[in-house]
Amino acid sequence: MSEIARVLKTFVAYLKRPDLYPELGRKIIKNTVNRGNAFKGKEKTNSWAASKAISQKEAISKLFGIDMDSFKSNYAEVLKYSEQREKECPIKMGDPGALELIYYACEFTNAKNVIETGVAYGWSSLAALLSLEKRGGTLYSSDMPYLAQDGDQYVGYVVPENLKSNWKLFRFADKESLPKIFAESSTFDVLHYDSDKAYNGRMWAYDEVYNRLKLGGVFISDDIGDNSAYQDFCEKNGIETTVVEYEGKYIGVFVK
Ligand SMILES: C[S@@+](CC[C@H](N)C(=O)[O-])C[C@H]1O[C@@H](n2cnc3c(N)ncnc32)[C@H](O)[C@@H]1O
Repeated sequence: MSEIARVLKTFVAYLKRPDLYPELGRKIIKNTVNRGNAFKGKEKTNSWAASKAISQKEAISKLFGIDMDSFKSNYAEVLKYSEQREKECPIKMGDPGALELIYYACEFTNAKNVIETGVAYGWSSLAALLSLEKRGGTLYSSDMPYLAQDGDQYVGYVVPENLKSNWKLFRFADKESLPKIFAESSTFDVLHYDSDKAYNGRMWAYDEVYNRLKLGGVFISDDIGDNSAYQDFCEKNGIETTVVEYEGKYIGVFVK
């Protein structure tokens, strides 16, 4: 599909969904007058992140006092199932977050309520759900419908059926999903942020969730090198963050 055909298809799909009109308005502004917002402060943050970065294994040991090595072997079977599902999935979605970091954040906090933005295939959801099923907790997730690719039905495709009873998936943009999630749960043990990567979108959501994160809760944000929103957010709130270098990107994580 050409770029113009894709944009047109997305636009028409939006028009059929009045519940998504607010996001359509925001997208138009984001892709026209606010274009620079996606990369604001990127250079500054990349040198800051590079100077602090450690591996995922080191971060899990430093912050949670846990050795992550048994995760892959303990969950070999479900991970194999999920990899197979991803291969079979007819549409291509976003890259996975750092599974061990998410899983052990949930273990460390004995999480009952976890919130994540950005689901795609559902790798990060899977990591949280594997921990939450042990204590009957709930994962609240927000993800935009995949309008251009008719991909709605595939969001969360790698999550096995038996883990879905602990999962509430809100199919709107974060600006609409988060208030609906907060109406169901007012505090959270873990956040995984992996959705709207623009500066303003991050700043809005970071504040909203940070205020509802329990003391001792874990805040994780993916792709913090896209712009300086995460660094500026940490500096504004006096937060000492850890930076993880993972598969060519930077992830921010701290315990509140
Ligand atoms: C990188 S993917 C998420 C990957 C996922 N966390 C994982 O580990 O498999 C980013 C997702 O964010 C969603 N997204 C982007 N902007 C959004 C917004 N404003 N509100 C909600 N979801 C959004 C996209 O639809 C996409 O599925």
